[in-house]
Amino acid sequence: MVLNQITESEFGEKVLKSPLPVLVDFRAGWSASCRQFDPLLDEIARDYSGRLAVAVINVDEAADLARGLGVINLPTLVLYRAGRPVAQTSGALSKKEVINWLSENLEISSGREQPRILFNSDRINERVKAMARQIEDDFRDQELVLIAVLKGSVLFLADLVRWISRPLAFDFIGVSSYEHSRTSLGVVTLDKEIKADVRGKSVLIVDDILDSGRTLGWIKEHLKKFGPREVKVCVLLEKEVPRIIEVKADYVGFKIPNVFVYGYGLDLRDRHRNLPHIAALEET
Ligand code: IMP
Ligand code: MG
Repeated sequence: MVLNQITESEFGEKVLKSPLPVLVDFRAGWSASCRQFDPLLDEIARDYSGRLAVAVINVDEAADLARGLGVINLPTLVLYRAGRPVAQTSGALSKKEVINWLSENLEISSGREQPRILFNSDRINERVKAMARQIEDDFRDQELVLIAVLKGSVLFLADLVRWISRPLAFDFIGVSSYEHSRTSLGVVTLDKEIKADVRGKSVLIVDDILDSGRTLGWIKEHLKKFGPREVKVCVLLEKEVPRIIEVKADYVGFKIPNVFVYGYGLDLRDRHRNLPHIAALEET
């Protein structure tokens, strides 16, 4: 892959019309600090050969572009896809940070590594409706309180409750067990306690996914302390992996193999919760 040094007038042609994602290096002049990025760009061009075009543009010659991007005097890397900027670095970044930033953003924005859609929104809708009907039947004569686990279950909860046509209450609990890592750390801490009064009521915990079981196992035990009539568990997804903490999900939307999934509430490094479908990364 060639590193193109382009002028502002070539920008439209080479960046906005490129079929490949383009990494644009906006530089303010050609100072020594900028040059240290040259080996890095070479490396990136080598690693991503065929999947990424790299362009360097001197912001002295492209003052309007530079102003628009807020470039002052650091090289700013902007990733364009289909002519639109999709990610931008800010401030001084180390080489490692740049590589991480790039691999993160290419994961979902390069042409080759298309995310695999596991469940589209129609399929999710169908399934959520069926789950709602089942829940409505099962808790017909009981006072039901749904406790949704922040933040992953928010979209699921919102869709689920609108198909349950009986009075119910819902509340949220916040826990961390999972910071920016694709595997659970094994420590669960309470970030947000429930406010709902669940004493003597039927509690249904609503979560996005059951994986090792640590999160739901911990929450289930925690909620029992408030004296509910019963505590049941409803998850949209259940990973078919051995549980570290044995937890039975009473309601399961879909069973999935051991892949990392995101979208429809689930995050990929705290983003993409807003996708209407559920996508999978490569096998983890
Ligand atoms: P567990 O404690 O290992 O069962 O993990 C449950 C929590 O980890 C879920 O509530 C999610 O927030 C998160 N999690 C587990 N697997 C995934 C995944 O594939 N994508 C996104 N989040 C996940
Ligand atoms: Mg979660």
